[in-house]
Amino acid sequence: MKFFIDTANVDEIRTAASWGVLDGVTTNPSLIAKEKRDYKETVREICKITPGPVSAEVLATDYEGIVREAREWASVAGNVVVKVPLTPDGIKAVKTLSGEEIKTNVTLIFSVTQAVLAAKAGATFVSPFVGRIDDIGGDGMYLVEEILNAYANYGYETEVIVASVRNVRHVIESLEMGADIATIPFNVLKQLFNHPLTDIGIERFLSDYRKAMGG
Ligand code: G3P
Repeated sequence: MKFFIDTANVDEIRTAASWGVLDGVTTNPSLIAKEKRDYKETVREICKITPGPVSAEVLATDYEGIVREAREWASVAGNVVVKVPLTPDGIKAVKTLSGEEIKTNVTLIFSVTQAVLAAKAGATFVSPFVGRIDDIGGDGMYLVEEILNAYANYGYETEVIVASVRNVRHVIESLEMGADIATIPFNVLKQLFNHPLTDIGIERFLSDYRKAMGG
C-alpha cells in the first residue's frame, strides 16, 4: 500500500520524505488555510520535495471553472494531481480532463455509487473520507470495502485513497482490505513507528551490553 501524507506543511512533508517511505501528498483548501501561504507556491515547493503524486484542489464549482483551474494546476508541475469534488459538474470535468491525460483525484466521496461515477468518468484516484463518516456514527472503512469490491467486480483501474484518516486503526484496516493508498496526517504517520516493546527492547540491549562491557 502506498503511504501519502495529508498535509500542506512543508516541514512535515520533508520529514516524512526523509524517512524514505513517502509515496505522495494530498492537500486541500483547509490544509492550505492553516499554513497561511499561497496555494500554488506551496504546491510548487511540495512537488520539488516529492516525486510522487501531489493533489491540489480546485476552488471552482462550475464545469468551466474546474476545467480551467485543473489545466492551470497541471502546468505547475508534472506530478500534480487535480482534486475535484464529486458533483455533476466535477464529474463532467473529470471526463474532459481524463481525455487530456490530466490526472484527477475525486474528493468528498461518501458512497459507493459516487466512487463508481468517478471511475466511469476516468478518475485516476478517488478519496473516500472515512473519518468524517465515523464522526457522524457511520462506518467509514465499510465504504472502502464496498468501493474496492465494486472496482474489482468491474475492473475499474481508479485507485482508492483512504482519506480523512484519524488513527492507526484506519491504516491497519486499509492494509487488510488491500486499499491502494492511505493518505495519513503527520501525527498518525509518526504513530506507525511506535511500539512499547521496541523501546523496551532497545533499552535492554543497550543496558545488557553496557553491563557486560563494564560501561
Ligand atoms: O484531504 C482530505 C481529507 O483527508 C480530509 O480529512 O480530517 O479534514 O476529515 P479531515
